[in-house]
Amino acid sequence: MTNTKSHPAALTTEKYGLNKKELLKACVDREILLMKRNSFIYIFKLFQLLVLSFITLTLFFRTEMHRRTTEDGGIYVGALFFGIIMITFNGMSEISMTIAKLPVYYKQRDYLFYPSWSYALPAWVVKIPISFIEAALWTILTYYVVGFDPNIARFFKQYLILLLVNQMSSGLFRFIGALGRNMIVANTFGSFALLLIVALGGFVIVREDVKKWWLWGYWSSPLMYAMNGIVVNEFLGHQWKAPLNGTTLGKTIITSGGFYAEAYWYWISIAALLGFILVLNLCFALSLAILGPFGKSQSNAAHADNDTEVELSAMTTGDDATQTKKKGMILPFEPHSMTFNDVKYSVDMPQEMKEQGVSEDRLLLLKGVSGAFRPGVLTALMGVSGAGKTTLMDVLAGRKTGGYIEGDVRISGYPKKQETFARISGYCEQNDIHSPQVTVYESLLYSAWLRLATDVDEQTRKSFVDEVMDLVELNPLRDALVGLPGVNGLSTEQRKRLTIAVELVANPSIIFMDEPTSGLDARAAAIVMRTVRNTVDTGRTVVCTIHQPSIDIFEAFDELFLMKRGGQELYVGPVGRHSCELIKYFEDINGISKIKDGYNPATWMLEVSASAQEMALGVDFTEIYQNSDLYRRNKALIAELSVPRPGTNDLYFPTQYSQSFLVQCMVCLWKQRWSYWRNPPYTAVRFAFTTFIAVMFGTMFWDLGSKKNTQRELTNAIGSIYAATLFLAIQNASAVQPVVDIERTVFYRERAAGMYSALPYAFAQVLVEIPYVFAQSAVYSIIVYAMIGFDWTAAKFFWYLFFQFCSLLYMTYYGMMTVAITPNANIAAIIAASFYGLFNVFSGFIIPRPRIPVWWRWYYWGNPLAWTLYGMVVSQFGDFDDRLTSGETVKGYLRRYFGYKHDFLPAIAGVHIGLVLFFGFIFAYCIRAFNFQKR
Ligand SMILES: Nc1ncnc2c1ncn2[C@@H]1O[C@H](COP(=O)(O)OP(=O)(O)OP(=O)(O)O)[C@@H](O)[C@H]1O
Ligand SMILES: [Mg+2]
Repeated sequence: MTNTKSHPAALTTEKYGLNKKELLKACVDREILLMKRNSFIYIFKLFQLLVLSFITLTLFFRTEMHRRTTEDGGIYVGALFFGIIMITFNGMSEISMTIAKLPVYYKQRDYLFYPSWSYALPAWVVKIPISFIEAALWTILTYYVVGFDPNIARFFKQYLILLLVNQMSSGLFRFIGALGRNMIVANTFGSFALLLIVALGGFVIVREDVKKWWLWGYWSSPLMYAMNGIVVNEFLGHQWKAPLNGTTLGKTIITSGGFYAEAYWYWISIAALLGFILVLNLCFALSLAILGPFGKSQSNAAHADNDTEVELSAMTTGDDATQTKKKGMILPFEPHSMTFNDVKYSVDMPQEMKEQGVSEDRLLLLKGVSGAFRPGVLTALMGVSGAGKTTLMDVLAGRKTGGYIEGDVRISGYPKKQETFARISGYCEQNDIHSPQVTVYESLLYSAWLRLATDVDEQTRKSFVDEVMDLVELNPLRDALVGLPGVNGLSTEQRKRLTIAVELVANPSIIFMDEPTSGLDARAAAIVMRTVRNTVDTGRTVVCTIHQPSIDIFEAFDELFLMKRGGQELYVGPVGRHSCELIKYFEDINGISKIKDGYNPATWMLEVSASAQEMALGVDFTEIYQNSDLYRRNKALIAELSVPRPGTNDLYFPTQYSQSFLVQCMVCLWKQRWSYWRNPPYTAVRFAFTTFIAVMFGTMFWDLGSKKNTQRELTNAIGSIYAATLFLAIQNASAVQPVVDIERTVFYRERAAGMYSALPYAFAQVLVEIPYVFAQSAVYSIIVYAMIGFDWTAAKFFWYLFFQFCSLLYMTYYGMMTVAITPNANIAAIIAASFYGLFNVFSGFIIPRPRIPVWWRWYYWGNPLAWTLYGMVVSQFGDFDDRLTSGETVKGYLRRYFGYKHDFLPAIAGVHIGLVLFFGFIFAYCIRAFNFQKR
C-alpha cells in the first residue's frame, strides 16, 4: 500500500461535509440567527394578537355573557371559534417567510451544503417557543375575562388546544409555501385551504347538514377537531351542569352544534391535532426534498433588433448632421437655454450624522454650482459616485420632494417656474419605470396624448410618435409588452430606449438624462448614445450624467460639467475634438502627468482630478477652476444668457396641464383598460377563484336556502352567506394591492412630469374595476343562488346580486385605499389584514348585534361587512312569516336574535352605495395627498 501524502479532505467520500449532528447544529444556529434578525415581524404579530385579544375580551365580556339557554351557549361557542380562527390566521405569515428563503435553500441544497431534512427540522422546531408565547398570550388574556369555566385544569386544556392549533396552522402554511413556491400560487392555495377548513370546521355548518360528498372534508378539517375538543372542554364544565330535557344544558349546546359530547373527544382532538402537525411538517420536508425552483424567472421579449447595425462613427458630430437634422422635426418646438448661477441645495442633517456629533442642522449637498446648457449642445455631467450629479439634475428639473434650494435658475433668461418648465422639459430617470401591461407603442401614444399641446390633432400625434420610434429604433418592438424588469418583457437596454422615447414624444426643448448607459453593454450603450446624439442634433438642449464612458461615447459630447465630491464643479467647458480642450486644461496644471497615447481621456481626467491627487499635489481643483479664463468666460456666458433676448416672451400656458380634466380621465382610463385586460394573473385568476368558490359553496350548501323550518337550518343558510362574503371580500382586497402598488410608482413619475393631476388617475383606477367586479359578482351570484336554492324571485335575486357586487367593489377599493395610505404593498397587506379579523368578529354572525356589549355596538355599525351580511340575510329571509319548530316566525327570529329588520332594506342599500363612494374617495384623496417617494 502506497503512502499518500495528500490531506484527508482532498478527495472526500462523504456526501456532506459534516456529520448529521453538526449539520443539524449549523442549520439550527442559522435559523435562530434569522429569527433574531427578523424579530420585528414576530413582535408585530404578537402585538396584533394582543390587540385582537383585547377586543375579544371586551366584546365577550363576562358580565354580558349569560348561561341560561342554548342561545347563550352559542355566544360562548362563537367566542371559542373566533379564538381558533385568529390563531389559525396568525400562521399565514409563514407563507411569505417560507417562500422568501426558498431560492437560497434550493441553491444550497443542490450544492450539497446540507440535506433537506436538516433544513426542514429547524424551520419547524425552532419556532415552537413562539407558539407557546402566542397561545399563552391569547388564553391568559381572554380565558377568565370572557368567563370560561374557572377550573384551572380546563384553563390549561384550552391552552393546549390553542397551542396545537397554532402549530398546526404554521405547519400548514409552511407546507403550502414550500409547495406553491411562488407568492401568487401559494396565496391562492392558502386561501383555498383556509376556506375549506373554516367552512367545514363545524361552526359555519353543522355536521348533520354537511352533504355526504363533503363529509371527507369535514373529517379532514383540523379545525373541526379543534372545535370539538375545545367545546367539550368548556361545556362539560361545572357551570353548564343545569339539567335540560333529561340531560345537561352543556351537553345540549354541544350536540346542537353538531359536535360529540363525550369527554374523551377532548383527547381525540389532541391526538388528531398532533397527527396533523406531524403530517404537515413531514409534507413540508418532502416538498423541500422533491421540488425545485418554480419556473424560469427571466424571459425576454424577442430581440427583434439584433440585426441593427451600430455605427459608432455616426454618433460623432458633423458626419451625418445634415441627414439626422431632419429627424423628429415634424412638430415645431422652441429651443431654450438653461442657466443656473450659484445653486445651493441642502437637506436637514440626517439623524445618523447628528449622532456622530455634527452640530449644524443642515447638510449642504451642492455648494453653489453655476453653468449654462444651450440648445444643440450635448453636455456630459460627470464626477465620482456621490459627487451630487443626480442631486443637481433633480434640483434643476424640479424633481426634489424635500430639502432647501437656493440660487438663480433661468430658462432663456426668464426665472424658472416649475409649472411651465414641466411642460417644456423631459427627465429620463435612472430607473426605468413603466406600466408593465401595455405595449411600447401604447406607452408612447399615451405619453404623447397627455403631453403634447391640445392643438396637435390625432393624425399628427400618431405620425410624431412613429417619427420618435424611428429615431430611437423601437419600431421592431412596437407591439411588445413592456413587462416587469427582471421578470419578463423588455430587456434593460430596450427599456432605457423606451424611457427616452417616452420623454421625446412630449416634444420637450430641454431633456435631462440620468445615466442612460449604465448597466448596458457596449453595443446597447452605443444605440442609446446614437439616439441621444440624434436628439441633440434636432436642436434640443440635452444634459446626460454618465459613468465610465468609452472613448467613442465620451467624444460624442460637446461639453463637460465635471463635479467633485461635496457638490462643487471643477471643470465646466468644451470637450473639444478628440478631447483636446479638456486634455489641454488639465495638462496645463502644474504637476499633472501627461496623458498616454490611446488612453481613455474620460478615465484619465477622473484619475488626475481625484481627491487623492489633490492631496498629493496640495491644490484645490475648484480653486484652480475659479481662477481660470474658462471660469470667467463661463460667467460671462451665464450673464449673457440670463437676460431675455429682445422680442421674446416668458413661457406661458393657459392651463397647468396640456389636456383638459376630461381628456385626462379618458386617457388614463384608456391605459388602465389595457392594463387590466392584459393582466390575467390578476383578473383571470380572481375570476377563476370566484367561480371555483361558487361551485364549492354551491355543493357544500346545496339546497339549504329553501330550508327554514328550524333555527339550525336558518343558521346554516346565514353561515353560508357569512363565509362566502368574508372570503371573497378578503380575496378581492388583497389581490388588488400589488397591482395598485406597481401602478403607483408609474403614477409618481407621470405626475412629476406634469402629465395629469392625481384625480383623473384615481378616477380611472376606480372606474376600471367596475366591469370586472360586476362580471365576478354576476357569475358568482348566479351559480350560488341556483345551487343553494334561494327563493327564485327577481327582486330577491337582484338584491343578492346588488349586495354581492357592492361588497366586492368596496372591498376592492378598501384594498386600494390601504395601498394609498402606506409606502408599499407589504405594509398595506399587514395593515389590511389586521382589520380582516375585526370585520370578521363584528360581522354579526359570530356574535349577533343584540349580544354585542353597548360599548362595541358602534363598531358593528362601522363595519362594512356587517352591513352586507345584514342586507343579504334580511333581503332573503326577512319577509317570511313561516313558523319555525320553536313557534317563532322566521321574521320574528331574525328580528329578535340578529336584530335584522326588513323595513331597513332601503337604508342598507344606501349605506352600500355610500361605502363604495367612501372608499373610492379616500383612495383618490390619499393618492393625491401622500407622496411616499423620497428624493
Ligand atoms: N436626501 C438626502 N439626505 C442626505 N444625503 C443625501 C440626500 N440625497 C443625496 N445625499 C447625498 O448626497 C451625495 C450626492 O448624491 P447623488 O445621488 O447626487 O450622487 P451621484 O453623483 O448621482 O452618485 P452616483 O454616481 O452614485 O449616482 C451622496 O453622498 C448622497 O449620500
Ligand atoms: Mg446618481
